[in-house]
Amino acid sequence: MTKLLEVEGLAKNFGGLQVSADISMTLNAGDRCALIGPNGAGKTTFVNLVTGVIPPSAGTIRLAGRDITRLPAAERVRLGLIRSFQVARLFKSMTVREHLELAVLQRDRRTFRLFASVGKVAGLADEVAGLLDTMGLTQAAHTAVGSLAYGQQRLLEIALALAMKPKVLILDEPAAGVPHSESQRILDAIDRLPEDLAVLMIEHDMDLVFRFARTIVVLAQGRLLCSGTAKEIVADPRVREVYLGSRADAR
Ligand SMILES: Nc1ncnc2c1ncn2[C@@H]1O[C@H](COP(=O)(O)OP(=O)(O)OP(=O)(O)O)[C@@H](O)[C@H]1O
Ligand SMILES: [Mg+2]
Repeated sequence: MTKLLEVEGLAKNFGGLQVSADISMTLNAGDRCALIGPNGAGKTTFVNLVTGVIPPSAGTIRLAGRDITRLPAAERVRLGLIRSFQVARLFKSMTVREHLELAVLQRDRRTFRLFASVGKVAGLADEVAGLLDTMGLTQAAHTAVGSLAYGQQRLLEIALALAMKPKVLILDEPAAGVPHSESQRILDAIDRLPEDLAVLMIEHDMDLVFRFARTIVVLAQGRLLCSGTAKEIVADPRVREVYLGSRADAR
């Protein structure tokens, strides 16, 4: 198995407040891992540390064997550590296809050609068609982003992340705000992600977690409470106590 993301002894203090402590975990190629834990457990802080939004107080982060602990966020993106985009960054009047074209060109640093001849950039149309297909957005290719249904916006966010050619893809609540009836479409799209990608999903909806994840990492009070297969985690009494509670008992 190819180790893609290796986190060792990661810690973060804000002043005197320790919000992350001694977190170690590994993601291998092909992993489908969910990061769960109660509100305030430190999930978002962990993602911010890994992606380089904030510097850690201690610990190391390696991507495909390379120490990235001190690399700036943009450099980590270039190396293939990608977090899904946020809705607020989308330009509302641009179409879905235009967004994806821009993302691919930006990745290859070819944006200067955008105004000249998008149609002539080798491979661009095929790559964008592939992204649309993977995310189930082909029908919406010519729709302005401002008119997209919320579920489709979330799919576009994942498509934009995918356009960066990730090795490790971090999805922060990919179905947030999407009606439960539509969340299956997002899961279906996630199922079609490239197999060798390592995917880490932060998610509160346990139905989604159990449908997506082969492994689960549980954070509580800034620490790793436990990790294992979905089956092991749901059966772990410590997890029931801090998080799953009556929900797991009801199963
Ligand atoms: N910049 C900051 N300064 C001080 N404390 C912070 C900062 N960012 C986060 N915290 C604290 O760190 C703890 C973990 O927060 P974090 O947002 O990582 O939790 P979370 O697991 O993502 O929660 P949620 O499920 O609500 O999204 C919280 O107690 C929070 O108040
Ligand atoms: Mg959070």
